[in-house]
Amino acid sequence: MRIVMIGPPGSGKGTQGALIAGHFDIPRIVIGDLLRDHVARRTDLGRAVDGHLAKGELVPDEIMLCIVRQALIAAKAAGRGYVFDGVPRTMAQARAGYKIAVELGMAATVAVHLMADDSELTRRLLDRAALEHRSDDNAEVIRDRLEIYRQVTQPIIAWYAGRGILVSVDAMRPVEEVSSEILAALESMRPPASQSRARARRPVDLSGLVAQCGQA
Ligand code: AP5
Ligand code: MG
Repeated sequence: MRIVMIGPPGSGKGTQGALIAGHFDIPRIVIGDLLRDHVARRTDLGRAVDGHLAKGELVPDEIMLCIVRQALIAAKAAGRGYVFDGVPRTMAQARAGYKIAVELGMAATVAVHLMADDSELTRRLLDRAALEHRSDDNAEVIRDRLEIYRQVTQPIIAWYAGRGILVSVDAMRPVEEVSSEILAALESMRPPASQSRARARRPVDLSGLVAQCGQA
């Protein structure tokens, strides 16, 4: 299965993406984690994106599409589909990313859309801020991230609906309730061949591959 997670900050893309990847035994590509890892290692890519992350702004599309291409090539080599968390976030990324994916025979087959309201999302992210130290988990930046999602990312939902691959879920409920609804929907959409075919378990390791994406 080739799955894209889409939803506002704090809606559970990471939480639910991990459960889906575990359930179907497919690799997970988490763009936010990948970018934060490069920031921590101070690679060219990390230096190029650090300020954008801290301010809650989107990283430029050209950097993101470079990463998408590398990630899809690696996922194709691993041979077991993917759960993509974090892309697309702009219509330009959606259209150009789709073109790249089609060229590679790796276009998404499902878009899981997590829906929650801003007060719940803000509460979750502020709770997380008390435990972890993400540069973008503070009240002011959370407000900006939510605004960017509504203005720039949300229009992509209709595009996925038009492609006929959208699964929208009420993500306001407890984690287990959300995941059982998602997994039931995905099970019903699962291609029969993927239930029986034995697959090599190769991971998707992008830690070095995408470093070049930060070069101007
Ligand atoms: P990214 O890391 O993707 O951040 P985000 O979209 O703001 O989302 P989060 O990771 O904060 O939330 P999530 O939806 O994964 O929820 P989670 O499961 O963690 O991106 C960071 C930055 O990278 C962007 O701002 C941008 O700068 C850049 N970037 C990334 N992709 C980009 C792109 N394509 N283009 C340009 N720039 C890009 O859950 C949140 C919390 O809630 C957790 O503590 C969790 O335990 C809890 N929780 C989850 N589900 C529930 C539930 N059902 N009930 C109660 N609590 C819950
Ligand atoms: Mg996340």
